[in-house]
Amino acid sequence: MPKPSLATPSPSLAARQREQLKIVIVGHIDHGKSTLVGRLFHDTGSLPDGKFEQITAQCKRRGMPFEWSFLMDALQAERDQGITIDTTQTWFKTAQRDYCIIDAPGHREFLRNMVTGAAGSEAALLLIDAAEGVREQTKRHGYLLHLLGVRQVAVLINKMDKVDCSRERFNAVVKECETYFRGIGVEPSYYIPLSARDGDMLVERGKRLGWYKGPTVVEALDRFTPLPAPTEQPLRFPVQDVYKFDERRIIAGRIESGRLRVGDTILISPSNHRIRVKSIERWPSGGEGVTEACAGQSVGITLEDQLFVERGNVISHEKHAPVLARQVRARIFWLGHEPLTRDTRVRLRVNTAECNASLHKVVRVIDTDDLSPREGEEVGRNQVAEVIFDVRGLAVVDDHATLPATGRCVVQVDYDIAGGGIISTEGVRDQRVGSLEIKSTNITGLDLRITSEQRALMNGHTGGILWFTGLSGSGKSTLALELQQQLFAKGYQVYVLDGDNIRQGLNADLGFSPDDRSENIRRVGEVAALFARAGFIVISAFISPYREDRRRARTAAPEYFHNVYIRADIATCEERDVKGLYKKARAGDIPEFTGISAPYEEPVDPELTVDTMTQSVEECTAQLVEYVRRQFIRPVLEIATSGFGGDI
Ligand code: ADX
Repeated sequence: MPKPSLATPSPSLAARQREQLKIVIVGHIDHGKSTLVGRLFHDTGSLPDGKFEQITAQCKRRGMPFEWSFLMDALQAERDQGITIDTTQTWFKTAQRDYCIIDAPGHREFLRNMVTGAAGSEAALLLIDAAEGVREQTKRHGYLLHLLGVRQVAVLINKMDKVDCSRERFNAVVKECETYFRGIGVEPSYYIPLSARDGDMLVERGKRLGWYKGPTVVEALDRFTPLPAPTEQPLRFPVQDVYKFDERRIIAGRIESGRLRVGDTILISPSNHRIRVKSIERWPSGGEGVTEACAGQSVGITLEDQLFVERGNVISHEKHAPVLARQVRARIFWLGHEPLTRDTRVRLRVNTAECNASLHKVVRVIDTDDLSPREGEEVGRNQVAEVIFDVRGLAVVDDHATLPATGRCVVQVDYDIAGGGIISTEGVRDQRVGSLEIKSTNITGLDLRITSEQRALMNGHTGGILWFTGLSGSGKSTLALELQQQLFAKGYQVYVLDGDNIRQGLNADLGFSPDDRSENIRRVGEVAALFARAGFIVISAFISPYREDRRRARTAAPEYFHNVYIRADIATCEERDVKGLYKKARAGDIPEFTGISAPYEEPVDPELTVDTMTQSVEECTAQLVEYVRRQFIRPVLEIATSGFGGDI
């Protein structure tokens, strides 16, 4: 996709002076969508000059009867060639306002558009063939609208001419629809009988449906209301790109909700840095003197200092920040050819961010036909399900119920969109810990140019952090050294960071009070992050007794971090007492000794647990080597075969 330029205003923006409403048109494949759209364009006088005449002439030349859908095909073809301005959206107008049809040739595009927030639709037209009535696909589309929160819906019962414009037939279809929609909590605003082909009840009422007294399609559309931009909600500004102009770095994106002012202190997620906004450059035209921007606007901003900010980051205020999650819970619609299982390697897109993920659990599968919930291990094509994904790194998420614009996700498999849906943060642990204010001023983040993929290809493995945590005497250092030895022998770049060593240098100024331990772990987390970015497999062996500190260490490099619990209970460690410290601690000679007089908080959801009570050193090491192979070696084979671009 071409990058938008800050200098040239997009023509479609210039056209948006009039009120506009975004609509989506859905319906069973043969229920007449193209005909409806073609006729709608024509009857509202929205077709480009001469287009109608051109198509009629073409049909005549080829000896074919004219079809309204040809018009749409012709417009579509032009769009595909990039002749018309906007690539994803089609416009028609009534006296009251402009309508933008969000493309929904298939669910896939619809989902992508809806979910990426590029085009949340405000209203929907759902087409049903009067003769055929509600079909399975109609139900699925209805469910999709419900899932994505489209609340203004008009049901168009089309091809009334095929059923002799029968009022009874119309009522029967309406009844069928109502039963289904009631079940999913969707309440269509209008049911309109229609013959899209002949134009009855579209713009003109026609003569054959006199018994119907409700609005025409266009009248119904005009009665819908544009949704107000969510300016009063918490700020969400997902970063689309960072552009370098002369000395400045402009962070560009669309404000999805809330307001942003010059001078605001903002929080960047997931890095958790706080910084002030220096300027707002309104995008696309120049922004001299602009001090505030709000939901719905695409802007570029500059910061007081040039932190490292990248695509996928989310800017918010510190109050009402998004959740940093290792698991994403979502209600999704699955379109993949293959079912979603624990073995499916997926890429999860939330706002502008992407990360690797895998299915953790199917909470329930919902049958869109009869809406019954079922248990299941996998999600099949066209099913809706509530699922939990494990994500690599930290996903920045919002609950769809409170922040619809940023509470959505798209699921990709092999670069194809295989599903999408809405996020729930219920029961999800927020990994955020206190944010760090950067004290230095006038600092500029430097782009190191060599990418992590390049380093990984050079080394034959990705960088990564194996963060060993466990009691003193649990075996952290022993296993760290064994693992290091084996990896080194295979030619890997590997390095051990060990508590007893680091405390003699970098952290010589720290003791064992809770604050000192926190600072110990914070610094080591940053050092480990640097090593991992340099391409190393870092094995860090620190007690790191506090959950919050481990979480913060993770935020230093979420995509690299693997929490490994080296498990041995206190009795076992005390019995081993390799360094004789437990004995001293029991005698009261060591204050605040972990497990005796200071706490150890067990990890709740480590990536790996190595049990040193039941396994030998060899077995534990083998378990670790296998983990390294899966996590750090396999991804490189994938990069090498598929080209750059993986999230490693
Ligand atoms: S942490 O709690 O801050 O993560 P770290 O792993 O760096 O601890 O250091 C732990 C090592 O310091 C232990 O293996 C032990 O050799 C030594 N040590 C000395 N005093 C203590 C203490 N009070 N608690 C725990 N370990 C201690």
